[in-house]
Amino acid sequence: MNRSEAFKLISECVLLSTASFSVYYLLSTFLGDPSHRNNDEKDRTAKHLSNLKSKNPELKKVLSSLSNYEKILLAYLITPNDITISFNDIGGLDDVVDDLRESVILPLVYPQLFQQYGTLLAAPKGVLLYGPPGCGKTMIAKALAKESGSNFISIRMSTIMDKWFGESNKLVDALFSLANKLQPCIIFIDEIDSFLRERSSTDHEVTATLKAEFMTLWDGLINSGRILILGATNRPSDIDSAFLRRMPKRFNINLPNSEQREKILIKLLSDIEIEFNLHQLIDLTEGLSGSDLKELCRNAAVNSTREYIRKHLIDKNGDLKDNNKKITLRPLKLNDFIDSMEPDRVMKMKATIDLD
Ligand SMILES: Nc1ncnc2c1ncn2[C@@H]1O[C@H](COP(=O)(O)OP(=O)(O)OP(=O)(O)O)[C@@H](O)[C@H]1O
Ligand SMILES: [Mg+2]
Repeated sequence: MNRSEAFKLISECVLLSTASFSVYYLLSTFLGDPSHRNNDEKDRTAKHLSNLKSKNPELKKVLSSLSNYEKILLAYLITPNDITISFNDIGGLDDVVDDLRESVILPLVYPQLFQQYGTLLAAPKGVLLYGPPGCGKTMIAKALAKESGSNFISIRMSTIMDKWFGESNKLVDALFSLANKLQPCIIFIDEIDSFLRERSSTDHEVTATLKAEFMTLWDGLINSGRILILGATNRPSDIDSAFLRRMPKRFNINLPNSEQREKILIKLLSDIEIEFNLHQLIDLTEGLSGSDLKELCRNAAVNSTREYIRKHLIDKNGDLKDNNKKITLRPLKLNDFIDSMEPDRVMKMKATIDLD
């Protein structure tokens, strides 16, 4: 072979491999093979996968047989070992917790028992938690997974729709197949209204197809019994009625009343000494959510800690003192809480309650 023939052969080889690579890239982009995703994301997924395997040896086999789309969804998976919240941390929702124990946890844990009467007693295919922000919906969902020993896949539909537009139907398929492999499993869909809003003629075609697909897969769960769709929303009236029907168990998680605020505050302040009548704080916090109460307690603790730092750890020039003394913070006072409340609330509440 002379030099020009060799040169021609090499350039043809280069041309051929470039063409094959372009065809592969185009196909993988348009046909939705997620392997064209950037390396950072792949590294993250691989790291997460090996982390999950080492922490959950019982899942090793399942985790080794996942499709690429199922692997993407692992970013949204929390195993019961990693959930730190239990029903014990939730204050004032005892009725909801008791009902969930009986109607959801037991069928997830003992499916054989609940299959004795056919499908009559099977776990509900869907449960809806609705109510204003910060009242414990996400907390209940996590505790439910922890207490039933279920894997927990927590997704926002907007993430799937926005981030993987065009591939969303493959991800929805993967969501159900992953849950099937990992059962018992809870699929938690936060802001479920944004995806399952009333289907209308103005729906984008892709969204409408996706919803139909989602419902078909959801209906398929009837045979498994160990997968639960748990939805949470602040706007239940925006949910498509076909989807509402698939969530026959519904719990209204409302702003806590005074009895519930008492229980939440007792939990939040359980390790903290206080030197005031808790009922005064309960009265002052009317209309606040569990999350507001937590923030309030945090701010009160910051107030007292800041006072300690100024008094004991910083000298006149503003420098840190050498201090090896054992740190003992004073008990919290009602004023620590009042100082971090909105002045309007304090004024209004002070007018109606006795603070002495
Ligand atoms: N009943 C409760 N008992 C104890 N803590 C609570 C309770 N409700 C809320 N909290 C505190 O508020 C935080 C926020 O609650 P959570 O995330 O569950 O609210 P949410 O109802 O899901 O709100 P959103 O609708 O905004 O998602 C919790 O992490 C917890 O610290
Ligand atoms: Mg939430």
